[in-house]
Amino acid sequence: MSFVKFENVSLAYSNSKQLAIKDINFSINENELVALVGPSGYGKSTFMKLTSGLLSPSEGYVFVNKREVVGPQKCVGMAFQASNLLPWRTTLQNVMLPMEIVEP
Ligand SMILES: Nc1ncnc2c1ncn2[C@@H]1O[C@H](COP(=O)(O)OP(=O)(O)O)[C@@H](O)[C@H]1O
Ligand SMILES: [Mg+2]
Repeated sequence: MSFVKFENVSLAYSNSKQLAIKDINFSINENELVALVGPSGYGKSTFMKLTSGLLSPSEGYVFVNKREVVGPQKCVGMAFQASNLLPWRTTLQNVMLPMEIVEP
């Protein structure tokens, strides 16, 4: 199975009747580098929140490392946009920051 797998995933935020993302089927293999590109509001951050377990899908299933994501994932790091980055750190050091803060 892929390292990250989305099966028929839709998400409606609780304060909205509209689906932020709809029926996503997508997978990423181990060691694969993937960039999601799209205009503001296309669901990139929603995708990351679902992958990291900060949100649960309204429909469908999200898997990371062969396990269904049912809560926050300690093995997933999110580096935010400039205002949330530490300028004295390299890109990789910023990406790895959550791994340093969160206890295993
Ligand atoms: N907390 C939220 N509550 C309600 N709707 C949201 C929330 N966050 C994002 N959305 C909506 O979900 C859709 C996808 O947003 P988002 O994932 O932030 O897009 P992107 O990261 O690609 O700019 C947009 O229509 C946005 O308005
Ligand atoms: Mg975003």
